Amino acid sequence: MQEFDPHVLEEKAVPPPAEFSKHARVKSLEEYRKIYERAERDPEGFWGEQAKMLDWFSQPTRVLEWKQPHAKWFVGGKLNVAHNCVDRHVAKHADKPALLWEAEDGSKVRLTYAELQERVCRFANALKSLGVKAGDCVAIYLPMIPELPIAMLGCARIGAVHSVVFGGFSATALADRIADAKSKVLITADGGYRRGKVVPLKDTADAALKNCPTIEKSIVVKRTGEKVAWQEGRDLWWHDIEKAALKDCPAAPFDSEHPLYILYTSGTTGKPKGVLHTSAGYLLQCMWSTRLVFDLRDDDIYWCTADIGWVTGHSYIVYGPLANGATIVMYEGAPDQPRKDRFWEIVERYKVTIFYSSATAVRAFMAWGKEWLDKHDISSLRLLGTVGEPINPAAWKWYYDVIGKNRCPIVDTWWQTETGSILISPLPGATATKPGSATLPMPGIIAKVVNMKNEPVGPGETGYLTIQKPWPSMLRTIYGDDDRYRREYWEKIPGVYFAGDAAQCDKDGYIWVLGRVDDVIKVAGHRLSSMEIESALVSHPSVAEAAVVARPDEIKGEAIVCFVTLRSGHSISGELRVALMEHVSVTIGSIARPADVRFCDILPKTRSGKIMRRLLRELAHKGGISGDTTTLEDMGVIERLAKAQGQEEE
Ligand code: WTA
Repeated sequence: MQEFDPHVLEEKAVPPPAEFSKHARVKSLEEYRKIYERAERDPEGFWGEQAKMLDWFSQPTRVLEWKQPHAKWFVGGKLNVAHNCVDRHVAKHADKPALLWEAEDGSKVRLTYAELQERVCRFANALKSLGVKAGDCVAIYLPMIPELPIAMLGCARIGAVHSVVFGGFSATALADRIADAKSKVLITADGGYRRGKVVPLKDTADAALKNCPTIEKSIVVKRTGEKVAWQEGRDLWWHDIEKAALKDCPAAPFDSEHPLYILYTSGTTGKPKGVLHTSAGYLLQCMWSTRLVFDLRDDDIYWCTADIGWVTGHSYIVYGPLANGATIVMYEGAPDQPRKDRFWEIVERYKVTIFYSSATAVRAFMAWGKEWLDKHDISSLRLLGTVGEPINPAAWKWYYDVIGKNRCPIVDTWWQTETGSILISPLPGATATKPGSATLPMPGIIAKVVNMKNEPVGPGETGYLTIQKPWPSMLRTIYGDDDRYRREYWEKIPGVYFAGDAAQCDKDGYIWVLGRVDDVIKVAGHRLSSMEIESALVSHPSVAEAAVVARPDEIKGEAIVCFVTLRSGHSISGELRVALMEHVSVTIGSIARPADVRFCDILPKTRSGKIMRRLLRELAHKGGISGDTTTLEDMGVIERLAKAQGQEEE
């Protein structure tokens, strides 16, 4: 296993603020332990009990059917996800705001639950009128606008499976995802806004659709009003079909295991994985964890700053909070537009009480300075959260002191696209936190740090993070590749779910997630695959071979460093370096843009031909090599690589 910085384990525990605990849903560690033990003793009884949170058309007859690695949760149950996220709240409080949306340019939309219901129903009917049926896949490539959750809920309402593709992905990435899921319809927009500029989404979508024979219709939201190309017969304006549709669309019952969505994520190979989530178990665990982890109450104003293109937005902007009937804030734009206090202005305006963001965002706020916060009254905040990457203790403390003013607990939540919902996190009124640790597993979750034989490692020893028993919101498979599902998650350490993370467990049972053990890179919390970037690089005519590793980055957590060898006839130049960066960005998307490209005449390999990433990683970090290099094919390469690095720094 690669080495991890054993920095953190000495951090002192910060008890939950007493005032917070007094009113919290779970008020003490004893209470947490009681729930945990109850769930451990009788997981099916426990989850069966929690499932009462959902509205069912038919009650499940069995909680779990487990034939490793395949789980069916709440067998025999029938429900409608959109009914659970919208309709049942309309019955209770039709006028409660569901969505408070604003954009970079200051435009705002406020939708009550009743208004959300009408829009979801109309859009669901519009999809039906286009021939979309239960089980069909709908690709969604939209900016962070209200139509995005509406489209997702519209799909859920009629049992169509959505596949949201992050708006920062390229045409190729979008086309690959459409082809893999065999999507019938694409939902996009004429554009979006980012840093005051128009992002021409439809142009990119049109480029993708040149290679997407499965797509019958493309629905286009008018967002910017810019002129766009139009293909008659295929392209339809969202507002036209929404207006033409009826506003009643009864929520039909679907099986608990009916597929809800596919979300692509990066793994160890060049091909993204379509993580498949189904209905009841996913929705239940999102709803339940939102309640517990964020201590959600009826009057909270909840803001998760993630993009819905990633799993955090699926589970903790859309499904978890809306299943609870919460009021959510959604923002389309950058945190420093027009100024670096944009987030605090939003917190002040809507009186946000719960703020869930990333470690990268916190580090950026820290770099921008406290003065941006001092301009605003952010005293409405009562709880802070972080996700997506390890948070370094310094950033944690800044978050706690400067943003939370020492009175807001921080929930450092560990989970994955595959886990569907938060599996390791403090419960804010119960768990003493330690800066840098996601602390303890949620009730119902048996998380262990083990070696390859599934034997627990001792306190302070590095091992692999595993989940030992199935849980309701777990992925069901990788769409179209059940073999890969089995191999990657359930066979590496036989019998248990292998998360792909290195971790340590301290003497108090606190879990410290250290980082990935595979070739997944986390840039600003966004998951990218080294292999995918390598294939992008070798698709450039000048590149013979490429190896991609991560190096630590002060703000983004990790940054991408590429080592490339060139084909004969091509020579090293500054222009080529920039061209290769651009090529990756165009092939995958701007989020994958390398921070650095280094040229070398050969890549370090073992005798069996495997690229020695550890060595490159070390080089990318420090510029020097230590440790065992005897398996190198060509010893001279190290010197040359080190020299290449030297030139880079000049
Ligand atoms: C990392 C994001 C440390 C981890 C929800 C995991 C974290 C990967 C944390 C999943 C955390 C997520 N502390 N590391 N609190 N949360 N990670 O699928 O490496 O985009 O395996 O899901 O993010 O990334 P994904």
